[in-house]
Amino acid sequence: MGKVLIAPSILSADFSKIGEEVENISKEGADVIHLDVMDGVFVKNITFGPKFVKDVRNKSDKIFDAHLMIVEPWKYIEKFAEAGADYITVHYEACRDKLKETLRAIKDLGVKCGAVINPDTDPEKVYDIIPECDMFLLMSVFPGFGGQKFIESVLPKVEKVADFVVKSGKETLVEIDGGITLENVRRVKDAGANVIVAGNTVFKETDRAAVIEKLRNY
Ligand code: DX5
Ligand code: ZN
Repeated sequence: MGKVLIAPSILSADFSKIGEEVENISKEGADVIHLDVMDGVFVKNITFGPKFVKDVRNKSDKIFDAHLMIVEPWKYIEKFAEAGADYITVHYEACRDKLKETLRAIKDLGVKCGAVINPDTDPEKVYDIIPECDMFLLMSVFPGFGGQKFIESVLPKVEKVADFVVKSGKETLVEIDGGITLENVRRVKDAGANVIVAGNTVFKETDRAAVIEKLRNY
């Protein structure tokens, strides 16, 4: 198996000291900082926008992965690119027939692009766009909140997508997000995921370096 990237989701961090949290988690072994952007419309929660991303950008030299859970994401991709996102991922459920052009628009900004599907979306619906993606994200919870339970039925979909990527001959990363724990991380890696998002599992611990190491090695 190739390299696996660990992507702590700062949704589970303490926002009252977010600069410190991002700085520390970067030193504690994170490869990627996963940034959950929510608008209160696409999902029933509100987090932060481009200014927040720009401000925390100064605290870390890790890969910044902006997961946009917002409607009409194409309206904001330029702002997130300017803010310093390295990857911008947009939901199929938010873009529908505009997905391909939104991915292209992200690439045209010089940023790596990703598509995301919810747990109840069949990946076959988006096979045609997977080769366009630098990263493909499968949600293993319904988006909106950290700390939810992993949905097991997503595992065979991860396998399908990972196989598709191998057959396509591309190097599209396969990311999994939601409910990842030390108990299930082995299975998601075996299924073919190579970017592992973890919110609560990392931030609830005091020894975060140890848990990141375990997520990497389990
Ligand atoms: C859910 C977010 C996830 C979430 C993951 O809407 O996209 O990134 O923060 O948190 P855990 O790992 O706690 O499920
Ligand atoms: Zn996320």
